[in-house]
Amino acid sequence: MHNIDQIVQAATAAFAATADPDALEQIKAGYLGKSGQIPGLLKGLAKLPPDERKLLGAAINRAKDAIAAALNARREAIQLLALEGRLAEEALDVTLPGRGQSRGGLHPVTRTLERIEALFRSIGFAVADGPEIESDFQNFTALNTPADHPARSMHDTFYLQDEAGGVAEGVLLRTHTSPIQVRYMQAHVARHAGLATMPEIRVIAPGRVYRVDSDATHSPMFHQVEGLWIGENVSFADLKGVISDFLRRFFENEDLQVRFRPSFFPFTEPSAEIDMAFMSGALKGRWLEIAGCGMVHPNVLRHVNIDPEKYLGFAFGMGPDRLTMLRYGVNDLRLFFDGDLRFLRQFV
Ligand code: PHE
Repeated sequence: MHNIDQIVQAATAAFAATADPDALEQIKAGYLGKSGQIPGLLKGLAKLPPDERKLLGAAINRAKDAIAAALNARREAIQLLALEGRLAEEALDVTLPGRGQSRGGLHPVTRTLERIEALFRSIGFAVADGPEIESDFQNFTALNTPADHPARSMHDTFYLQDEAGGVAEGVLLRTHTSPIQVRYMQAHVARHAGLATMPEIRVIAPGRVYRVDSDATHSPMFHQVEGLWIGENVSFADLKGVISDFLRRFFENEDLQVRFRPSFFPFTEPSAEIDMAFMSGALKGRWLEIAGCGMVHPNVLRHVNIDPEKYLGFAFGMGPDRLTMLRYGVNDLRLFFDGDLRFLRQFV
């Protein structure tokens, strides 16, 4: 009898000593399992006389029930412990402040591009774009810059590698947005094939361009906005008017001076560089170069099957990053592309 009580106590203590469900089942086997202590005691009953057997048998069965009850209690306790652990682990602190939806903002250069688009749309220009990976043909040859033309060295070009690591024949990152001129004219000509007179082309094309170049005023990736106006009667005077008017509206400054300085581009003739100067404010009187331009070269028109005897017009390529620096008084171009929110937030 005494022995049986000790077994129940030992079992209960062993259950209480573990919090691991598998270990608990192991311990259980030692008491209630086939070769456990309780079945062992029951086996011993057979040798006893009937009245003793009855008495002891009842005691062993009570012990067995007591152990089973202790086991179940411990199982539940362990389950509860696990649940509490999980609840504690996955607890939500509902008193923490939320992450919040902070308000995003447009990048300053994006604001400039949108502003440029709006101003040019208001005078009847469409907006086009083109691929940043270009063919040598679109980027140079069709723009009157054949292979070996010295003007190719004006652009430090990123060439793409082929799979073997060599230079991919004729594939590059566009060095300017001028190839969009070619693409747009080709599409325009195809769209109006068969008409006696082709409708005017009036388009701007903003986008990213790439050159091997990096300092305070040059970034290997920068933006350009190409402009193109082709018709039967488009003159250099129109170019001057469109650009001057655009700049005055862009900077909301009627006091702005614009000058055209002779220059060279293979795809325009005559060609010019456009400078502007504010007549007041911190930059008063300083001339800043903001675009290249000129009358589209007859060879470029021929390349896209436009008759240069009948149609002519102008093109320009300006630097919206520069315009953004001037508009907001930023002195380092690289700030625009570093992705530093402390800088960018100032424009929101
Ligand atoms: N594509 C020229 C450049 O990047 C700019 C330009 C565009 C000049 C159109 C004339 C006409 O330097």
